[in-house]
Amino acid sequence: MSDRPRRGSYYGAPEFDLLTDGEAALEWAARYLERLPELPVLPRVDPGDVRAKLPAEAPDGPEPFSAVLRDLDEIVLPALTHWQHPRFFSYFAVTSSEPAMVAEFLTAVMNQVAFIWRSSPAATELEAHMMAWLAKLLGVPEDWHGHIEDTASTSTLAALIAAREQTGRPAVLFSEHAHSSVEKATRLLGLEPRAIATDAEFRLRPDLVEGELASGHVAAVVATVGTTSMTSVDPVDALVPLCKSTGTWLHVDAAYAGASWICPEFRWSQAGVSGADSLVVNPHKWLLVPIDCSALWTRKPEAFRRAFSLVPEYLRTDDDADSLSDYGPALGRRFRALKLWITLRCYGRLAIQERIRYAVELASMFESWVSADPDWELSAPRHFSLVCFRRRGSDETNLAILEAVNASGELFMTHTRIDDRVVLRMAIGNARSTIDDVSRAWDVLRREATRVLEG
Ligand SMILES: Cc1ncc(COP(=O)(O)O)c(C=O)c1O
Repeated sequence: MSDRPRRGSYYGAPEFDLLTDGEAALEWAARYLERLPELPVLPRVDPGDVRAKLPAEAPDGPEPFSAVLRDLDEIVLPALTHWQHPRFFSYFAVTSSEPAMVAEFLTAVMNQVAFIWRSSPAATELEAHMMAWLAKLLGVPEDWHGHIEDTASTSTLAALIAAREQTGRPAVLFSEHAHSSVEKATRLLGLEPRAIATDAEFRLRPDLVEGELASGHVAAVVATVGTTSMTSVDPVDALVPLCKSTGTWLHVDAAYAGASWICPEFRWSQAGVSGADSLVVNPHKWLLVPIDCSALWTRKPEAFRRAFSLVPEYLRTDDDADSLSDYGPALGRRFRALKLWITLRCYGRLAIQERIRYAVELASMFESWVSADPDWELSAPRHFSLVCFRRRGSDETNLAILEAVNASGELFMTHTRIDDRVVLRMAIGNARSTIDDVSRAWDVLRREATRVLEG
C-alpha cells in the first residue's frame, strides 16, 4: 500500500505501527481461536499467579508490541478461562463471533461517545435502528422504545428506577429463582425485595403475586423468561392483567432466553411479554455478540426520561433528536450498536436461527443420553439449551464429579441447587460446540463418576 502510515506516526507510541502490529494481533487472534480446542478450558493457576509475573510498575518508556504479544502467550493465555472454547458449558455459554470481534476493534477506532445525538449521530441512530431490527427479529412490539445498556444488571436497574419513578411505591416482587441482579438492583434503590415461591416447574406463582399486589406497595414485578439456574419460564401472560389492574410495573428478564425468539418455535415463551412495561434481552449471551451488549425495551419511555434526563448547560442543543443517555444511568455511551449491526449483517437471520436451533438440538441429545442412563437423572424440565441433571446419589458425589470433570481440563461446567439438592448444569450455547464436544462431555462425566465412586 503506497500511502501506508509509517512507524512512529502515532503520537507518543513510536514503537507501534497500526498495520504491522495490527496484523500481528490479528494473527495472534486467529491462532488462538484455532488452538482453543486443545487448551484446558479452565486454567491451571492459583490466585496471585498472574500478578506475580507482572512488573510492579508501568514501564517508563515505550515497549515494542511484540513484547506485549509474547506476554499474552506467557502470562495471560495460561490464566484464561476459555469462554470461547467449544467445551465451555458453564453459566450461560456465550460466543464472540468473528465479525463482532472486528466490530469491537472498529468501535475503538471510531471511539464514539454517544451521550447526545450531536456527540454521535451515527451511533445514536444506528442504536435506535438496531433496536428496531432486533425487535422485529425477536417479535418484540415494534412501537417500543429501545436502547442498549452494558449488562442485564444495568438494564434491570434502569427499569426498576423507571418503575419507582412511575409508581412511587417501595417493594419489588420476583421469583425465588430470579437472577441475583434483580435483588441487587432492588437493594441498590433502597426498595424492599420480596422473593416469591414457585410452582413444581419453578415458575413464579401468580396467586401469590396477586396476594402481594393487594397491599398496594409493589412498584414492580420482575418476571423471568429463562431463569439462570434451570431456564424456567414465569407465566408473564398471567401476570400482565394483575399488574395492569394494580398499576404495577412489569419488567421481563429474558437476558438469556430472549434470543431464542428469533425462531418462531420458541415464541411460546414470549406469551404475554407484549403486555409488559419493559424487557431485557442480552445479545451478548446467545446472539453471537461479545460482552457487553444488553437490549432494553420499554413501552413507557416517558417514565425513563423522567427518571434519567438531566441535561447540563454544556450538553444543551436545539437538535430535535432523542438522546439515549436520557434512558439509563450512564452519560458516556459506547457505540455498541456497531457490533450488533455487523453481526446481524454478516450472519443474517437464517444463520442465527440455525445456531440457536443447533444448540437446542445438542441439549436435547444430551438430555436423552442422561434420561436413558439409570445412574443419572434429569432435575428440571429443559426448555432451551440448558440441561439440569445429576448422578443419582449424594450431593457430595455430584460435587466430587464436578470437581474431577473440571480438573480434567476437557470441559468446564457449573452447578446449582434445585429443591435443595446439588444439580449439574450443562449449558450449551457456544457456537463452536459440536456434537463431538457434547458427546465427549458425556463420556468425561461418566468416566469421572466411575472414578469418584470407585474411590
Ligand atoms: C436471567 C438472567 N438475568 C440477568 C443476568 C445478568 O446478566 P449480566 O451479566 O448481563 O448483568 C443473567 C446472567 O447470566 C441471567 O441469566
